[in-house]
Amino acid sequence: MKPVKMTAGVYSLRVNHFNRRLFDSLIPLPQGTSYNAYLVRGSEKTALLDTADPEKAEVLFGHLKDVERIDYVVAHHAEQDHSGSIPLVLERYPGAKVVVNPKCREFLSSHLHLPAEKFVDVKDGETLSLGGKTLEFVYLPWVHWPETMGTYLREDKILFSCDFLGSHLAAGELYADEHVVYEPMKRYFAEIMMPFRSNIKANLEKLARYEIELIAPSHGPVHRNPKFVLDAYRDWAVGEPRNRALVVYISMHGSTYLLVNRLVGRLQELGVCVEKLNLDQFDEGRVAMALVDAATVVIGTPTVLTGPHPKAVYAAYLANLLRPKTRFVSVIGSFGWAGRAVETIAGMIPNLKAEVLKPVMVKGLPTEADLRQVDELAETIAQRHAGLAECGCAPAPQGAAK
Ligand code: FEO
Repeated sequence: MKPVKMTAGVYSLRVNHFNRRLFDSLIPLPQGTSYNAYLVRGSEKTALLDTADPEKAEVLFGHLKDVERIDYVVAHHAEQDHSGSIPLVLERYPGAKVVVNPKCREFLSSHLHLPAEKFVDVKDGETLSLGGKTLEFVYLPWVHWPETMGTYLREDKILFSCDFLGSHLAAGELYADEHVVYEPMKRYFAEIMMPFRSNIKANLEKLARYEIELIAPSHGPVHRNPKFVLDAYRDWAVGEPRNRALVVYISMHGSTYLLVNRLVGRLQELGVCVEKLNLDQFDEGRVAMALVDAATVVIGTPTVLTGPHPKAVYAAYLANLLRPKTRFVSVIGSFGWAGRAVETIAGMIPNLKAEVLKPVMVKGLPTEADLRQVDELAETIAQRHAGLAECGCAPAPQGAAK
């Protein structure tokens, strides 16, 4: 992909990574990702906003082959997918300075060992003129790291938002198709930003004073409809959970599976939207995304030796780490002779400020009486969900919040 002109003097230098399948050796990337750098040319100076993962540095340098001079490299975020190629850029453009906030300077010093004289510190709200192009730096802390900032290009009304408002989506088109980008955006929010919802809310409030025509994140396509993106984020970060239950489960010999199926069927009869995910094929992103707005989470686990199945433990650990808005949790499953599956799972989720609903743990193959306990759990969940907004599973094309 070649540099793509966005407005006069502003170019997207997107580096697509179509074949990347895992981020941080953890997060599945079903649609790859991109590392987005941008070039802003003023009448006097030129700035490169972010770089790319060093693994794809040659693509970035392909974009830069006709760029003779860079005066500033704005480092919005010290994580290596955006800053990892800064040393290579400085080799090619030795006169360039790295524009950072103090926290990012600290991180880049320790990660990249850049010399102190290379940095120019900027404060929140400070501006830098390139000549007819004014960069205003906007601190956006804790969109998963503490130092992240964005840049607002005043003359063009473009917000370069870094990770914030982005998506892991490798795409040939410059601009986002809202139907395509909604789910990758939600997945990305869920995976790294959900634990910082109060910071996300504060950052959204901070952006309210800017007139924004384009949102140019550091992953995924550019957004031409800022309202669509900002409404979606408000819904995920601030909105109430939905009339939705996430049932994650693993079954060894079929007993837990019977309980899960009974629960899912009864919940659906009672009008509760259900997402049922088999942990046999664990997709952390899918689980995270479902956690964004599910009011209830039920973990289905058999007993392995004396405790829950390790895959159920992993799911509980992940849910605790991501701090979703979940209001109700429960555990269902089976055991052979004895076990502490419920106690172990319940002890693993202190970050979930949720009511624990009466679990259903049965010995061996569920009896009809056991299944009636599952029905009762479903009825309790449906009662607790009374008054919650419907689940809104389908991506919304025009403004995501409902
Ligand atoms: Fe895309 Fe937090 O780096």
